[in-house]
Amino acid sequence: MVDEVLARSFESIGEDYDRYRPGFPPVAAEIIVPKAVDTALDLGAGTGKFTQLLLERADQVVAVEPSAPMLAVLLSNLPSVVAVSGTAESVPMADASVDVVTVAQAFHWFDREPACTEIARVLVPAGTLGLLWNRADPGCSWDMACHRIAHPAVDATDATAETAAEELPGFEFVRHEEVAWTERISREHYLRRWFTVSSFLVAEEAEQLRMRAAIEGVLDAAPETRGQPAFDVPHVTDVFVYRRT
Ligand SMILES: C[S@@+](CC[C@H](N)C(=O)[O-])C[C@H]1O[C@@H](n2cnc3c(N)ncnc32)[C@H](O)[C@@H]1O
Repeated sequence: MVDEVLARSFESIGEDYDRYRPGFPPVAAEIIVPKAVDTALDLGAGTGKFTQLLLERADQVVAVEPSAPMLAVLLSNLPSVVAVSGTAESVPMADASVDVVTVAQAFHWFDREPACTEIARVLVPAGTLGLLWNRADPGCSWDMACHRIAHPAVDATDATAETAAEELPGFEFVRHEEVAWTERISREHYLRRWFTVSSFLVAEEAEQLRMRAAIEGVLDAAPETRGQPAFDVPHVTDVFVYRRT
């Protein structure tokens, strides 16, 4: 069941999301789109962090996103993308008009059954669906601790990605790849990233202050981050590929 309050928390941010959230490794796009296609659709595209990786793999790239501030940033960053307001449950595209649909860090916000029906409708026969999520590297204890502070109910190692491997109605599962990568990040940037997650956005001010203090406490205690203005944060990107049946 999708939490509507959390799902709509992204309506309030655009630039901060774009500035502070991690991107995706280009190899993730290669796994989903190994050969160039005519049209790719990025659904729940946000500010275009994954959309941009589709530009060299598709003649036409379309981004569908319900949040106006997110879409405004996407439009200004990626003027060649056709950016459209819409949702996964009602995709504003014609039947069989898209070769590849990608969903980065967003499929868990969708109402799964209607979204799968819509994705299958807009895809060409045997078209590709690629789902991606970034998650914490389980070997990085300080980042895992910060994830647990921001998402106390979720295991940061599997998070929402695990549910993607289930069968999806209308799709055949093709492959799952894990891509490990590392990002150099300043302490301030890392802290501000946490202020863009849905649980922080919907929290009361006192809870936000508690979360910030707890995350700073982790950074002050861990040998890898203590007293460091910048540090390396490892990520794992889960990539799931499906084919329309
Ligand atoms: C965590 S952000 C990911 C954005 C972008 N794909 C990225 O990886 O940076 C989740 C996005 O899903 C969008 N979203 C939430 N519910 C949606 C729905 N039902 N249909 C389409 N997008 C939705 C949000 O507005 C938000 O932009």
